Amino acid sequence: MDDSNNFLLELAVKASKIAEETLNKNNKEIRIINSSIGHDIKLSGDVISEKIIIDFLRSKTQNSILSEESKHSKGIASDCNNKYWVIDPIDGTLNFSRGIPLACISISIWENDKPILGVINDFNRKELFTGIVGVGAWLNEQPIYVSDISLMEKAVLATGFPSNTNYSTDSLLNFVAKVQNFKKVRLIGSAALSLAYVACGRFDAYMEKGIMFWDVAGGIAITAAAGGKYFLNKINNDFQYNVLVCNKNISNQIQGLL
Ligand code: IPD
Ligand code: CA
Repeated sequence: MDDSNNFLLELAVKASKIAEETLNKNNKEIRIINSSIGHDIKLSGDVISEKIIIDFLRSKTQNSILSEESKHSKGIASDCNNKYWVIDPIDGTLNFSRGIPLACISISIWENDKPILGVINDFNRKELFTGIVGVGAWLNEQPIYVSDISLMEKAVLATGFPSNTNYSTDSLLNFVAKVQNFKKVRLIGSAALSLAYVACGRFDAYMEKGIMFWDVAGGIAITAAAGGKYFLNKINNDFQYNVLVCNKNISNQIQGLL
């Protein structure tokens, strides 16, 4: 076992808990809308939470950081061979802005384009999802595993529409054709939380096209640690991907959806 990963996981948990203290205050300052363009929204809370997390991690480690709001990092370029942090300071920002309790903090470590560990802190529900790939995954320190559903028609798919989604009729019909054979489809407005739910078997699969890397990085790490399988297809150099994550029993049936 790599002790340095345990240490980094503890730091990520701590960082998320410090940020949580601020996000859980019912304080108008964290819900100021900094921008609302097209289907996207940015809050003061995104920036405040990010600063808290980055300041803490920088004070403890020298690893590069890729984070949603500031993006400063070597990123996941192929020359980035060292372990680097990937941070989404609030995933589910629109939900958070409206007081819909489906938002979380996501922090992970990646290396050579591979997930190493992840933390997703659902601060509304006090659910802390953690995982170290090859070691295990936990919800509030209890082991979690992906589901064992093996039929698409029995599976619950979580998905979403990234802010740059094409809402044309053709595009939406194409989406419907892909998802209509699942038992149920859920759009909860947080990719990170959707993935945490795949990791603990509440959902069986997650798929989203054109999603940003920081939205899914922590959740991919935790689902991989919980026995899941992931497919990450790079769309461009701006950290956008087509992503499918699921249990291993169903992966052959649904892999073609990407
Ligand atoms: C969004 C959420 C949502 C997904 C969007 C993301 P944000 O992240 O993850 O589920 O469908 O593509 O942008 O903006 O709340 O951090
Ligand atoms: Ca996000």
